[in-house]
Order: sequence, then structure tokens, then C-alpha cells
Amino acid sequence: MTIRDIRPTIDSGSSSLLELRKFVAPEFVFGAGSRSLAGRYLKNFAVSRILLVTDPVVAACPWFEDVPDSLAAAGLTFHLFSAVSPNPRDHEVMTGAEAYAMAGCDALLAVGGGSVIDCAKGIGLVVSNRKPIGAFRGVDRVEQPMPPIVCVPTTGGTSADVSQFAIIREEAARTKFAIISKSVVPDASLVDPETLLTLDPFLTACTGIDALVHAIEAFVSNASSPFTELHALRAVRVLSGAVLESARQPLDIELRAQVMMGALDAGLAFSNASLGSVHALAHGLGGWLDLPHGECNALLLPHVVAYNYPAAEERYRVLADAMGLEVRGRTSTELGKLIVDELLRLRAAAGLSATLGSKGVRTADTRSIAHNAMQDPCNATNPRAPSQRDLEVILEEAL
Ligand SMILES: [Fe+2]
Repeated sequence: MTIRDIRPTIDSGSSSLLELRKFVAPEFVFGAGSRSLAGRYLKNFAVSRILLVTDPVVAACPWFEDVPDSLAAAGLTFHLFSAVSPNPRDHEVMTGAEAYAMAGCDALLAVGGGSVIDCAKGIGLVVSNRKPIGAFRGVDRVEQPMPPIVCVPTTGGTSADVSQFAIIREEAARTKFAIISKSVVPDASLVDPETLLTLDPFLTACTGIDALVHAIEAFVSNASSPFTELHALRAVRVLSGAVLESARQPLDIELRAQVMMGALDAGLAFSNASLGSVHALAHGLGGWLDLPHGECNALLLPHVVAYNYPAAEERYRVLADAMGLEVRGRTSTELGKLIVDELLRLRAAAGLSATLGSKGVRTADTRSIAHNAMQDPCNATNPRAPSQRDLEVILEEAL
């Protein structure tokens, strides 16, 4: 066998086994009932008092009590902090940090979706570094590591429980900012498909599409590697079918487990390959209108893929094959149309095909949203480097 034989077979334009590649992932336990290991995992960090970060909807779920019960069984006490909204605000992070200090906590446990987990990460950064949360915006701006943090994700989508990302909404400026740092990778994630059984169909669709977008953007990212491709492609194969089925059959635990595994795979991929302009625009849009993150992605995905396609045609061909589309014999133009049509079909079937206009975006808003999106680090790994005008046009097409 020669070196040429073991080179990656997927044409990424730059993949070589000789390039330096890093892959960061926390310890995770996947499986039904893993939420009940929270106490045992936190106990390993020699801590005693936990800030349990969640939201009121999750705290009311029938399975939730197993988590505080596990803390008690491990001899740990906790203080509950549930004042977290969707698209967590900067001031919620600061309130949570005050609660952490007042209650004398020495570790964090996040039980919830991406909003709860991102808020908990923000609390950890603030209490360790004694700075306002805005000080960490951007890439690698964290000096001191967070206190120990364990996560129990309860949506099959955001993968904040394994990622190097935290997204916070700056309410006064109507923007969301990304914090990207190895320091915000949790210490452990307990990925329990049973927590999805109480997720409503709308959020199942939103978070499932978010996960699919993570996999797609990670795969076409110009920072992808053989290590991220592996996870991205498996995520696309699993999620393309399982997300919609699981929204239709919410009590099917096998389907829920597939979505949870697909979302985890997508998270491992995007945490290490980063994302692209769907997410940059979704952060701009979500900050502007306070819409669910997954819905923002769904509204933008087909338009960004149509924009990106000429710059990464071979990558999209591999993705289309993983989605189960018939790619053989298609011309370049036919394939591009096939992929965009399939994404339009998927989001319509998920009930996420509204226009930006119907959500309240006006033509006059596109400039501000595009301006905010241009500041987002996710653009840096998009396969086609967008100008602000490019982003404005994408938004106008989605109106
Ligand atoms: Fe996302």
C-alpha cells in the first residue's frame, strides 16, 4: 500500500493526512437512563454544591426528578437556577453567576436544550474569570477554565453539551454573539434519549433540523477533516430520515435514540470543523427577532446551499448521496437543484417553511441583520466567503 492509497477519498480540496488536525470531545455516556449518573459524575470532581441550571419546562418533565435524586444519592447539595429563556440573554447569565456565588456553588449541572447549556457555560466563564459575559465573544478569548460542568441535553439538536461553542443574545443590541473556545467544552455529557420523549413536535422538528444543518455545514466547512467527515456523514444519513419520523411518532424511543445519536455525531463534527453562513445568518436573525434557532436555520438553509453550491459541488454530491438522493448521471446544475429541492421538501414536511417576511423581517431590516451576521465567526469556514451584500441577497431571497 502506498501513501496515495490511504489518502482520503473525499475531495475536500485540502484534506491531507499530513496536515495538523485537532479533535476535541468531552467524555460522554450515551443511553437510556444516563441522566441518573449526574451525581456520580459530579462527585468525581470532589465538589459539594451544584448550581443546577435548567428551565421551567424541563423542570416539570416527569423524568427530571431522577437528576436531583442522583445528586442526593451522591451526597451533593444543589441550588436550582431556572430563570433561563430560549435564546439565553446576557443578563440571565449574569443573574445566574450571582446565584452561583450567593449559593456557594463549586460546580455546574445543565439539564436542558442548547439555551440552558449555553447559559450554564456562560455562568461558568463569568464566575471563573470575573468579567461580564460579553468579554468572551469571539474565538479563544477565555483565560481561566470554567468550574466542573456536566450536561444532560434534552433536545436532539444543539449539541452544546459536546461543543466548543456558546451562543448568547445581547438583548439591547438585538444580536447574538458566539463564544468559541476549548474552555467551553463540558467535562462530561450524559446523553439520554429518554429525555426526548417529552419534547413537543415543533421543537423536535426545530432542533432536528438544527442538527442536520450542523452536519451539512461541518461537512462543507473549509476546516473539515477526515475525523469530522466521519461524524458529519453518519449524522446526515441518520437524521435525514429519523427527524421527521420522530416528530410523527414522538413516543418511539428507538427513533428518539437515532435522533439523539445523529445530533451527537453532528455536534462532534461541527465542534471541530465549525459551521458556515447558515449559522452566521441564523444568529443574526435570531438576535433580531428572538426566533427559535432551528427555525432560523430551516428558513435560511436552502438559500445558503444554493449560494454555496458552485464553490463545493463535489462535497454536496457526497452529502446528497448520504441523504439518499439519486446522484448518478446528474449534471452539475441538476444536482444543485435536486439538493435545494430536497431541503425545501424536508423543511416543509417539518412545518418550517415560513418566509422571513411572514416572521416580521422587512426589506429594510436585511442590511442590519447581514451586518450583524458578517461579525459572526461561522462565516470564516463557509466554503464561499460571503460579502455583506451576498448575505443581504440571501436574506432578500428568503423574504
Ligand atoms: Fe445550530
